Amino acid sequence: MTPTLYWKDGNVEMLDQSRLPTEVTYVTCADAATVARGIKELWVRGAPAIGVAAAMGMALGARPLAEGSGDDFARELAGVGDMLISQRPTAVNLEWAVRQVMGYVKTNCEKPVADLKKQLVDLSQRMLEEDIATCRAIGAAGAHLMPDSGGVLTHCNAGALATGGYGTALGVIRAAVEAGKSIQVYADETRPVLQGARLTAWELMQDDIDVTLICDNMAAHVMGLGRVRAVVVGADRIARNGDAANKIGTYGVAILAREHNIPFYVAAPLSTVDFSIASGAQIPIEERPGHEITRVFGQTQIAPEGVKVFNPAFDVTPARYIAAIITERGAVRPEDLHRLADPGVDVAPLLVR
Ligand code: MRU
Repeated sequence: MTPTLYWKDGNVEMLDQSRLPTEVTYVTCADAATVARGIKELWVRGAPAIGVAAAMGMALGARPLAEGSGDDFARELAGVGDMLISQRPTAVNLEWAVRQVMGYVKTNCEKPVADLKKQLVDLSQRMLEEDIATCRAIGAAGAHLMPDSGGVLTHCNAGALATGGYGTALGVIRAAVEAGKSIQVYADETRPVLQGARLTAWELMQDDIDVTLICDNMAAHVMGLGRVRAVVVGADRIARNGDAANKIGTYGVAILAREHNIPFYVAAPLSTVDFSIASGAQIPIEERPGHEITRVFGQTQIAPEGVKVFNPAFDVTPARYIAAIITERGAVRPEDLHRLADPGVDVAPLLVR
């Protein structure tokens, strides 16, 4: 799998996903500001991947800070964290990753700042590796929910490219294929930024997983033809009640799935669950520039100059449409999700089999 991010010679190499699938190029990030730009401009995207990018951005942002008191260092680093978090509001993983780093700094603030700076690089690397392991656990927890054969529809890209590696929704599909299931993936192209066409189709083809690209407005027809036996998508933030924010268009897919009696699954790590909010109404929805809709990649104009545009990047699927939320601790019904806030809870009785 093509890595999304990695450390090389003290800098972060970030795959520029805005250029895929025609160019596979990496941007060298030597400071937090470049990582922030990469998050904003979608060089790196997908909730878990931007979390890992933020952790690496914190390590880069720590580098030029004064090596005086641990408290001063923590205060200045918190400013770097706020700057990174402000790039994209919906995916909670960004905030989660910054909080993890700040937690580490605060519990170790008696150590020399020079040592802390090195340790933040190691911490971000561990977070990358843990993210891959988490995705594999999500895959293992959800593979049994996939049909033994037939079509599975997904929206946007919740794959290796959206995570440290392996993917969440695509991780479930990968694990099912590895278990011998014969799955044909239908990838919604995912207007306006086309993560399905550019990224999901490319990523699955690299792995020789059967994928068919459709326009977003074809999903109902394809379901009506009986070609889809399950839907699995990722999430950017899930509320305590199981309402799940994901790429714009996901909510519509969930309604279509319900109409056609097709199970609709959300696959995400627990770091994507915001246990502090009661429902999806509290999830901030990012609005992106109008040119993403009026122009093809900022170039060819496809709408009248000056037209008013509304471009929300995410929508919220109400929990009632979700058959199960697949996490690294297992697949549970949305109404049981809140119980996973307790790391000691026995999940066995909650699992969807
Ligand atoms: O705007 P993007 O490309 O960052 O949106 C990504 C998604 O909506 C993904 O489905 C979500 O982050 C889950 S990624 C495992």
